[in-house]
Amino acid sequence: MPPNAIEVRELHKSYGRFEAVRGISFEVKRGEVFGLLGPNGAGKTTTVEILEGYRERSAGEVSVLGFDPDHAGMELKQRVGVVLQTMGFYPNATVRESVEHVAGFYPSPRDVRETIALVGLDGTEDKRARQLSGGQRRRLDLALALVGDPELIFLDEPTTGFDPAARRTAWSVIRRLKELEKTVLLTTHYLDEAQELADRVAIIKNGLIIAAGPPSELTPASASYRVSYDGDGGRVELETDDPTELLHRITSEALARGDRLRNLSVSRPTLEDVYLELTAEEESAAVTPESVPT
Ligand SMILES: Nc1ncnc2c1ncn2[C@@H]1O[C@H](COP(=O)(O)OP(=O)(O)OP(=O)(O)O)[C@@H](O)[C@H]1O
Ligand SMILES: [Mg+2]
Repeated sequence: MPPNAIEVRELHKSYGRFEAVRGISFEVKRGEVFGLLGPNGAGKTTTVEILEGYRERSAGEVSVLGFDPDHAGMELKQRVGVVLQTMGFYPNATVRESVEHVAGFYPSPRDVRETIALVGLDGTEDKRARQLSGGQRRRLDLALALVGDPELIFLDEPTTGFDPAARRTAWSVIRRLKELEKTVLLTTHYLDEAQELADRVAIIKNGLIIAAGPPSELTPASASYRVSYDGDGGRVELETDDPTELLHRITSEALARGDRLRNLSVSRPTLEDVYLELTAEEESAAVTPESVPT
């Protein structure tokens, strides 16, 4: 078995004259949770759906569990679970019927009732898909991706529309998949989610990977700690590589004045800070289908 669940080399995808993916390379190791991040239109869904075999690539090499998804059959499909960004439903099928139906495609599926409970849909088994709320529909998507007990799971914005508690539930489901040594390729706009779950991430912008690595190693060019507190004239924000020294100084000064530093906090830049720094650009520089000369 190849060590990597997914290998992508110099992948390109054009829609007519517009090149949505412009030569990206990355690999996802077995048992890894890998996050694809990037602004709307960056090329994430295009990339994921090429790996799923739903779209044909224009150029480059792709291997998914050792298969070329363009030419793979049932053998690959039965080892993969998918949450698409926009899912097709049988609107009149009930939750139980939908999950049972998809379970039927897989050689050794999970228990249907257990899967429904896993995503927090117990109690809605007899509701029809069209009667579900947006977040409940998304939970059904997740159940459909998991019911086959696949070894590789593609999750394209799996928690969009989830309430905060449902998001935490989904996070624990994804952590559980990792414990079971499943491989997960995740796209998300929630950077706390990526920071929480992903072993490694790649940030895509305009069809190119602009940064990749473990979330904790993607650090912004700016200083590595932020110290802030409420001053008389508003919030004071300081940056430092040595918070011990800085805190000692500013707290001593405050105490000497007989003062307190209100709402004092020390924080590391989050993945969101790094992401915003890396993806910032003037709107005019963005490549969009509309901006391609004809
Ligand atoms: N079927 C298509 N035909 C033409 N252009 C497309 C098609 N699908 C996607 N595109 C274009 O390709 C670019 C990348 O789209 P894609 O859906 O991969 O982005 P994304 O990173 O998933 O964005 P989002 O975060 O909004 O889901 C966009 O500019 C989009 O308009
Ligand atoms: Mg998308």
